[in-house]
Amino acid sequence: MPSLPSLLGIRYPIIQAPMAGVSTPQLAAAVSNAGGLGSVAVGHVGADQAAKLIAQARSLTDKPLNVNVFCHAPAVQQASVDRAWLETLGPHFTEFGATPPRELREIYTSFVNDDDMLELFLKQRPELVSFHFGLPAQERIDALKSASIKVAACATSLEEALAIQAAGADLIVAQGYEAGGHRGVFDGRQDLRLGTMALVRLIASKTRLPVVAAGGIMDGRGIRAAMALGACGAQLGTAFILAPESSANPAYRAMLKSERAWHTHVTSVISGRPARGIYNRFMRELEQAGGPAIPAYPMAYDAGKALHEAAAAQGNFEFGAMWAGQGAPLVRDMSAADLVAALVAEMGQMD
Ligand SMILES: Cc1cc2nc3c(=O)[nH]c(=O)nc-3n(C[C@H](O)[C@H](O)[C@H](O)COP(=O)(O)O)c2cc1C
Repeated sequence: MPSLPSLLGIRYPIIQAPMAGVSTPQLAAAVSNAGGLGSVAVGHVGADQAAKLIAQARSLTDKPLNVNVFCHAPAVQQASVDRAWLETLGPHFTEFGATPPRELREIYTSFVNDDDMLELFLKQRPELVSFHFGLPAQERIDALKSASIKVAACATSLEEALAIQAAGADLIVAQGYEAGGHRGVFDGRQDLRLGTMALVRLIASKTRLPVVAAGGIMDGRGIRAAMALGACGAQLGTAFILAPESSANPAYRAMLKSERAWHTHVTSVISGRPARGIYNRFMRELEQAGGPAIPAYPMAYDAGKALHEAAAAQGNFEFGAMWAGQGAPLVRDMSAADLVAALVAEMGQMD
């Protein structure tokens, strides 16, 4: 089995997780320049904006890069569900002197039917393309591979890992329940909520592909532990949020540095899909039993973002998506390059 550095042409077995809305081209380039693999998240933007983000990262590094997209099933609009949800959120909007949107929009286009994004990748040829929330059609994976682009996908169970292997991917990102951000669970599959330790060992022992561990890994010891379980490297998200190169706002940074970081929680109320973040009023008040059905992802996220904007305009940050993993209290306030150097030093000499 090739090592992660030799497979990807990098120096250290460390991937900075793609983090839509938080990672930036500057962050990705800094990590790649420091010897890890930087990731440009483009799941939340269209192909035009993605082209700009990738070009920006490319202008800052000549090292390999990962580009990440979402492969969720496109949402089926259910007007009555959306209406009931907006009514439920109504009093919260009123509290902040705002009105809820009239209807919910599908704010993100899934890569499963985004031809422009595929064309962009084939033209720009990032070294790695990674998928979250499932896999696109086989022809799309084959097209990327024929262009010498390596392919990775996120698995939260052995069943998903085997599907990724069968699709001819090069890497499996094993995402444990500790992880910050959205659970990568495939549509229609049960969320088994497996922790990183069990999941990595399970996937590493039952598949033939290199496995990258993700979820709750914050330092060199965590990376070494994942590698002792059979992973070829680790993908870290939360650890990079405080880096000056991330676009996390001051309120998010302050919350992550506070004792609130000890309380993370997986919720679907913010976006319509389960995701782990710092426990806040949005989760507490909207998760109450007997509430109406939550609109599908990413329709619910349209409402969640509007509510956060209304609250934030009044100085209230209790309705934001402050995604963070269970290792959040271990987060360090340092530049991306310093963090990669610290991780490598903690792991012991790797090269
Ligand atoms: C703020 C944030 C945003 C995220 N956005 C994405 C994303 O756009 N695409 C993706 O594949 N994973 C995303 N993730 C999940 C990461 O890929 C990874 O699984 C997770 O960060 C690992 O757990 P950790 O945060 O404990 O390191 C995100 C995670 C965070 C914390």
